[in-house]
Amino acid sequence: MILEGLERLEYRGYDSAGIAVIDDGALRITKAGGKLEVLNGLTRGGTTLPGFAGIGHTRWATHGVPNEVNAHPHYNTAKTIAVVQNGIIENYVALRKRLISKGYQFVSETDTETVAHLLDLYYKGNPLEAVIKVLQHIEGSYALSILFADQPDVVYGVRKGCPLILGIGEDGNFMASDVTAILKHTRRVIYPGEMEIVELKADGVRIVTMDEEEVTHEITEVAWDISAAEKGGYKHYMLKEIMEQPRVVRDTLSPRIRDGRIVIEELGMSDEELSRVRRVFMVACGSAYHTGVTGRYIFENLARIPVETDLASEFIYRDPLLDRDDLVVVISQSGETKDTLDAVKIAREAGCKVLAIVNVVGSTIARESDFVMYTQAGPEISVATTKAYSAQLIALYLLAMKFAEVRGFLHGRKLKSMLDDLMKLPEQIELMLGNRDKVQRIANRFIAARDVFFIGRGIDYAISLEGSLKLKEISYIHSEAYAAGELKHGTIALMEEGSLVAAVSTQPALHAKLLSNIVEVKARGAIIFSVTTMGNREIEEASDFCVTLPETNPLFANSLAIIPLQMLAYYISDGRGCDVDKPRNLAKSVTVE
Ligand code: G6P
Repeated sequence: MILEGLERLEYRGYDSAGIAVIDDGALRITKAGGKLEVLNGLTRGGTTLPGFAGIGHTRWATHGVPNEVNAHPHYNTAKTIAVVQNGIIENYVALRKRLISKGYQFVSETDTETVAHLLDLYYKGNPLEAVIKVLQHIEGSYALSILFADQPDVVYGVRKGCPLILGIGEDGNFMASDVTAILKHTRRVIYPGEMEIVELKADGVRIVTMDEEEVTHEITEVAWDISAAEKGGYKHYMLKEIMEQPRVVRDTLSPRIRDGRIVIEELGMSDEELSRVRRVFMVACGSAYHTGVTGRYIFENLARIPVETDLASEFIYRDPLLDRDDLVVVISQSGETKDTLDAVKIAREAGCKVLAIVNVVGSTIARESDFVMYTQAGPEISVATTKAYSAQLIALYLLAMKFAEVRGFLHGRKLKSMLDDLMKLPEQIELMLGNRDKVQRIANRFIAARDVFFIGRGIDYAISLEGSLKLKEISYIHSEAYAAGELKHGTIALMEEGSLVAAVSTQPALHAKLLSNIVEVKARGAIIFSVTTMGNREIEEASDFCVTLPETNPLFANSLAIIPLQMLAYYISDGRGCDVDKPRNLAKSVTVE
């Protein structure tokens, strides 16, 4: 059961794994370096670890190399207490020194082992008391699950800044960092609050505060079903998720368009409040940040409102000038990214309203923000995001249009034509997916590429950022995205015979400019793969390979142009024999800074 759950969570990290169970009053622990399948083999599918209660962990290394010793669970020397942890114990160096001075011996390089020894120090027969004492001493963001050998029917848990959910099942209860891990057993979920301590037993759950006062939380029914988290006949999750995009876009879009108007019920702001917003900040990480880059162009163009798009990891440390009339839009698939979560906190402290565009229902960012607009992408398993990215774009289009509408810039024929174009997107994405074989053939030509340069201007630059990230993260080919006009200020020095350039040109007003950039790199021997609008003969002819887009409003072109770039990355990665869904060194949900 634990192995299966971990398999669902492997996207959070997969460089080592381990399990601890209580069997006959003793802890049995097995750990292994490498992916989960190593642990699976070692425990013969879990059969070597029988028990009634247990914990498991799949790791993305922060402190100490990924190997068996550093894998979780960590335990005290007597092997009577075992703990798994997500996050970082920030004061672990000081705690470790203190524990060593008291005679404790450490075997790993991890911050987590400190928790195991600290528990040992404070455990005098009352687990709750020991956990509370430990929590008073550790700093940082974490989620912990703990076993005490002499409490064979209880798993203790607590969270601070990292996710931890409880599943209420028919024949047992569960604790996990994500609902996909337990979906097979139950959809009934409890979200414990920060610093609340959970005592999980097979037949009940008790949750108490640090003052040992009992708290209760509602049980939420999760709508996702387990089949959504399976491969469904595809070779990889990534391909399945790429192919799901027409549906995801439709699901994110249709409930929010009613009788020719955009209705965003989740946005608990009146039209008047919306029109008072002075500035918008878009804050996110990774691909979600790239949707924010696109969002900026669209918001400014449509709603004539100044937008700053920032990386969450930069935003939180730059002391941003926030005003009460600013709206902060955070974008996150997982809803758990630590830097993005910190951005929410900073914005709220400054008195700003925070709107979160999030995929995972009930995630921490969703719960900490003022308003949540859920993307309807369903569970996304592949580490490289595709369908969640596409759904985020849709949410941003709708939001920008709503702002434009209430500010008086979008009505009548223009609004109608944009809504028509939006509604056509699912079908048009389907059409773009029809280029699958063609893109695969093109990909085959570039399997041995050393560097790839993505160029575009405006929204096309935002698309290039995402196309380039997709390629490098799953194929390990060095790749960069450049605003095409910047090329001549340095990057063009790298162009040589055979360099591969992916040129994105979806904005009619910029075709001529991009054509000049294509010609410039071609003159230096580059091979051009272009993505452009249908009928754009000049760019097509200047390119060695070209995929074209059906007609849409140029502001929505990202949704179509990204499809061949996702497929290019996918087929190059698969062709190179890479682990497409679990690229090295990466994790899908990054709950550490
Ligand atoms: C990780 C993932 C990316 C994702 C980023 C932000 O790096 O590998 O695909 O874009 O985190 O994650 P979020 O869940 O906040 O969208």
